[in-house]
Amino acid sequence: MSIPLSLSAAHGATPPLGKVWFVGAGPGDPELITVKGRALIERAGAILFAGSLVSEAATRWAPESCVVLDSKDMTLEQMSAWLIEQAARCATVVRLQTGDPGLYGALIELVQPLDAAGIAIEVVPGVSSAMASAAAAVESLTLPEVTQTVIFTRVEGRTPMPEGESLAALAAHHSTLCIFLSITLMGRVTAALLEAGWSPDAPMVVVHRASWPGEQKIVRGTVATIQALCREAKIVSQSMIIASPTLGARHWQTLAKSKLYDASFTHRFRRASSVSEGDALAFSPYTPIDTLSDTSPHTSSDTVPQISPDTKETA
Ligand SMILES: C[S@@+](CC[C@H](N)C(=O)[O-])C[C@H]1O[C@@H](n2cnc3c(N)ncnc32)[C@H](O)[C@@H]1O
Repeated sequence: MSIPLSLSAAHGATPPLGKVWFVGAGPGDPELITVKGRALIERAGAILFAGSLVSEAATRWAPESCVVLDSKDMTLEQMSAWLIEQAARCATVVRLQTGDPGLYGALIELVQPLDAAGIAIEVVPGVSSAMASAAAAVESLTLPEVTQTVIFTRVEGRTPMPEGESLAALAAHHSTLCIFLSITLMGRVTAALLEAGWSPDAPMVVVHRASWPGEQKIVRGTVATIQALCREAKIVSQSMIIASPTLGARHWQTLAKSKLYDASFTHRFRRASSVSEGDALAFSPYTPIDTLSDTSPHTSSDTVPQISPDTKETA
């Protein structure tokens, strides 16, 4: 397939007809694309997919007539030129990106030339690898009274970090860190956590190829041990590093309960019915219990009839 190296063909007299959709393909499992993303693929005339990261299976719904191109060897200029050329030729052009297009996806660099060429674009969000990794490990990135904040970041590689965004500075919040693009720099990750005052015993989890059928690996360790454990597991690419005071909470004996499900808490969908008995008295975030039991609360809040809103709190 030829790749046009200049935009001139797309800047001719004929106005562009098509629209370019930036679609989040999800983290790897083809079933984790959104219904909307899949419907766009099913009617696409052209698809440019991020070959090194998006499994080709995500294009399995493309019609036979669709032109499908892997962008792994292309420059940004070649990609935007190709998208412009295809938009002049067909109504629906899809740029399929790993996870969510708005995270480390060069979205704006690709949108700007399309804007300049007068081509309509739209973005369809996707399941980020951060969310897929948390799901794979059965971890909650937020927990009441532990942390209510999640930071998506990376350590500095060839892309410099803006001032104030060193990992040590961000880790000083002691909230959840989802660290992208950094598996080969694990030494820097753990050094930054220690510099920020995290305990060497603080739990960490690394998820390699989250959701990829048959290829997912989960490595659990601590700030002190995770680098060696990843090396042992031969994990050197496509991995999410999560450091969080919430990790392992599935096995904690005590938890502060979410206000959303607290019987004493009135919100949009339910009036308080009784005084809460369940709030935790103590936490042992770094001391998991030996007995493993699934104590997930089973709620039926979805079936509670709606009452008039009397608080703005929703979670
Ligand atoms: C260029 S970024 C793209 C992130 C993507 N937009 C997202 O929302 O997940 C690539 C990085 O995302 C992470 N990543 C992507 N897919 C992954 C997966 N299936 N499992 C674990 N990490 C993944 C890795 O940290 C990888 O280095």
